[in-house]
Amino acid sequence: MLTLMLSRLRCQWLFAVSMLVIVGTSPAFGAESQGAASAQSNYNTKCARCHGESGKGNGMQARMLFFMMKMPDLADSAYMQTRSDDALFQIIKAGGKAGMPAFGLKLTDPEMRELVAYIRGFSKTSGSPKPASAVR
Ligand code: HEC
Repeated sequence: MLTLMLSRLRCQWLFAVSMLVIVGTSPAFGAESQGAASAQSNYNTKCARCHGESGKGNGMQARMLFFMMKMPDLADSAYMQTRSDDALFQIIKAGGKAGMPAFGLKLTDPEMRELVAYIRGFSKTSGSPKPASAVR
């Protein structure tokens, strides 16, 4: 009787361990840690509420707080041509003085670089190749 119980227990234990292994290695559960969200989905969930879907600065939150926030037009190519990729990256990472929140703790550097590239798409500018030291 006792041996039977013991072997049952061992069976259950083995089962539990193998479940953990399966869960730990299955792609569905690993996705969160491996997968950086795409720039587009990051933009739409974290930025569009202020900057608007196409970068014009007309997101819901910007419209409600229009008296507090001076929104840049990320789709204005004349303006965006004057901004270097490094300047855009820095403001995303560290935030701005006029209401732009810092995302340095929420996003990884590569994710923020991808956001810069994504934002460039709004104005179809390429970013002047200034070195970081020449900015600001
Ligand atoms: C709470 C509203 C808000 C959110 C959310 C927000 N921004 Fe901004 N953003 C601003 C404001 C206001 C400015 C103007 C600059 C400042 O604050 O100094 C700005 C400026 C910028 C600039 C600089 C443009 C320039 O003039 O050079 C970039 C690039 C930018 N934001 C990208 C982003 C990205 C990418 C996200 C999402 C990860 C984001 N922003 C989320 C409000 C917001």
